[in-house]
Amino acid sequence: LASIEVDVSSLTPGMSLTAKWRGKPVFIRNRTDQEVEEAKAVALADLKDPVARNANIAPDAQATDIDRSAGEGKENWIVMIGSCTHLGCVPLGQAGDFGGWFCPCHGSHYDTAGRIRKGPAPENLAVPTFSFVSDTVIKIG
Ligand code: FES
Repeated sequence: LASIEVDVSSLTPGMSLTAKWRGKPVFIRNRTDQEVEEAKAVALADLKDPVARNANIAPDAQATDIDRSAGEGKENWIVMIGSCTHLGCVPLGQAGDFGGWFCPCHGSHYDTAGRIRKGPAPENLAVPTFSFVSDTVIKIG
């Protein structure tokens, strides 16, 4: 299927789900305010990969929290391909040194915006093309 629609109505802040799209896991997380604040507080200069890697915006956009998220008014939502940018393992949620995701294969730590912060992965987790078709349904692809 080219695109899928995912009902996220059950995700209260702090909850996430994993959908499957084009054979890959897609992480959808409704971040808590604290998780958003933590991600916002990070200086771009501290990022290993300063590029947003977000298919919905310009390819050279910076990896600010807003440009990693679903955008203005929906900053709590983050949607990412669940494939470690090192060698493609599936990272674990709410794990690692930065409270985001942790890849157990070789120890890559991602923050609450899915940005690589420590370990061998070279890039932030990729944000696929997606949009909200309603307040509770996300279309991926
Ligand atoms: Fe994730 Fe190597 S595949 S750290």
